[in-house]
Amino acid sequence: MRVYRADALRGQRALVTGGSSGIGAAVCRALAMAGARVVVNYLSNRDEAEQLVKEIQADGGEAMAIQADVSQEADVQRMFRQMIDTWGSIEILVANAGIQRDAAFHHMSLDQWNMVMNVNLTGQFLCAREAVREFNRRGVIPEVSCAAGKIISMSSVHDIIPWAGHVNYAASKGGLLMFMKSLAQEVARHKIRVNAISPGAIRTEINRSAWETPEAEADLLRLIPYERVGDPMDIGHVAVWLASDASDYVTGTTIYADGGMTLYPGFREGG
Ligand code: BGC
Repeated sequence: MRVYRADALRGQRALVTGGSSGIGAAVCRALAMAGARVVVNYLSNRDEAEQLVKEIQADGGEAMAIQADVSQEADVQRMFRQMIDTWGSIEILVANAGIQRDAAFHHMSLDQWNMVMNVNLTGQFLCAREAVREFNRRGVIPEVSCAAGKIISMSSVHDIIPWAGHVNYAASKGGLLMFMKSLAQEVARHKIRVNAISPGAIRTEINRSAWETPEAEADLLRLIPYERVGDPMDIGHVAVWLASDASDYVTGTTIYADGGMTLYPGFREGG
């Protein structure tokens, strides 16, 4: 069995959806540092995606940016075709793209509901389906990886912690938990591994209001036993491990990278 090395992903080709910013950008950098070639998928911010590609290249990595809306079947199929035409195949999908459209439940519009479901859940389905098709077509290449392919779904602690005021988002992440597990069970015999990462509070744009003032950050830290807000690279490192052969016996599971947020939120020993 292969042992874990700094270049654990050498020879592998990865696609990271929503890769141009936030957690996705850190995942792109981390996979590239571990030796993978990386597609940085983006929806609208081309400059940001191209800039990240340049930075990865400057560090000696290989990357390219591809635009696609993960909630659109034709876009997803075009993106996979472009990647496979250019690099030959794909070994790692990090289905990371996700959005929040928050509203009190009685004010939530059908648009807010649908947008979150379309990106956070349908986007996972469309991307994972293309990846599984390609993994099955190619099969295992033992010199590259023990598995035919790896899918990593970016979920959230809100796949198990209810989230008042964010019913659409929590419903999408709760749905993603069973999507991930059922898919893992279905494709395991094809040597495809499917896992999720559930980040807690990570310092990115999606939750800027929760950390941008000292008061807000102090409130947030009360929910995090480890007493720090997460860094996007905390998640990048987990993604590298889940994508590598070091986790070859791990499938259908979720890694909570949350500084302990899921450990009985709210409880704090005095002093
Ligand atoms: C949300 C963040 C939030 C975190 C912890 C994430 O899924 O996107 O906005 O800070 O969960 O509650």
